Amino acid sequence: MKECLKLIKERRSITFFDPSREVPDELIREILEVSATAPSGYNLQPWEVIVVKDREKKRILKEICYNQQKVEDASANIVLIANTRAGFEHVDKVLDSWVELGYIKPESRGQLKAQIVAGWQEPQRAFRKAVRDTALFGMTIMIVARAYGLETHPMEGYDEQKLKEFLNIEEHKVVPMIVAIGYKDPSKELLPRAYRFSFEEFVKII
Ligand SMILES: Cc1cc2nc3c(=O)[nH]c(=O)nc-3n(C[C@H](O)[C@H](O)[C@H](O)COP(=O)(O)O)c2cc1C
Repeated sequence: MKECLKLIKERRSITFFDPSREVPDELIREILEVSATAPSGYNLQPWEVIVVKDREKKRILKEICYNQQKVEDASANIVLIANTRAGFEHVDKVLDSWVELGYIKPESRGQLKAQIVAGWQEPQRAFRKAVRDTALFGMTIMIVARAYGLETHPMEGYDEQKLKEFLNIEEHKVVPMIVAIGYKDPSKELLPRAYRFSFEEFVKII
C-alpha cells in the first residue's frame, strides 16, 4: 500500500535518460501486460501499442517529436494508439468472455452488443471513449514502470500526421501520447516538481 503511494509520488517526467542502458524486451512486455489490466468502458480495451526501440527508428521518431532529445536517449518509446472503432472490433471477444464467465446470460448477449455498439456510432463519442481509456492505460504504464525501477516521460509534442505515416497507423486510430521509457542518467538532476494546484483550488465537495 505505502509502496504504491511512494511510486505515484516519486514519478516524474524524466528529461534525461541514460542512452547506454537498455530495457530488456521481456521487461517491456511485463510492464505492458500488467498495465493492460487498466480499466476501460465495457472492458473494450481500445488501445494498441507500438514500441519504438530500434536506434534509427528512434532518430526518425525524434524528428517527428520536434527533436525532443529524450526520444532518442530513452531505451524505448511506447506509442499509445486509441482505436475509435474498438466498440465494433473488440466487442465480440469481450462478450464471449462475459458469457463464458457467467457475467451475462447467453440470451442477453445480442441486446448488450447492440447497446455497446450504439455508444460508438457517433465519431466524437467514440473518439472520447477511445482516448479516455487509452490515457488510463498510459498512466498505468508510468506507475508500473516505476515499480520496476524505470522512468518514463509522457509526450504530446509530435506531428501526429507524420507519426501515423511513419508507423502505418490507420486513419481511424489516434495517438493520445507517447511514453518514453528507460533509466535516468544518474549524472543529471531534475528540477523540483513544479506547481501543483491545491486541494482547495481543484476540489469541490458537495
Ligand atoms: C499527455 C502529456 C503530454 C506531455 N507532453 C510533453 C511533451 O511533449 N514534452 C515534454 O517535455 N513534456 C511533456 N509532458 C510532461 C509534462 O510537462 C509534465 O508531466 C508536467 O510538467 C509535470 O511534471 P512531472 O510529470 O515531472 O510531475 C506531457 C505530459 C502529459 C501528461
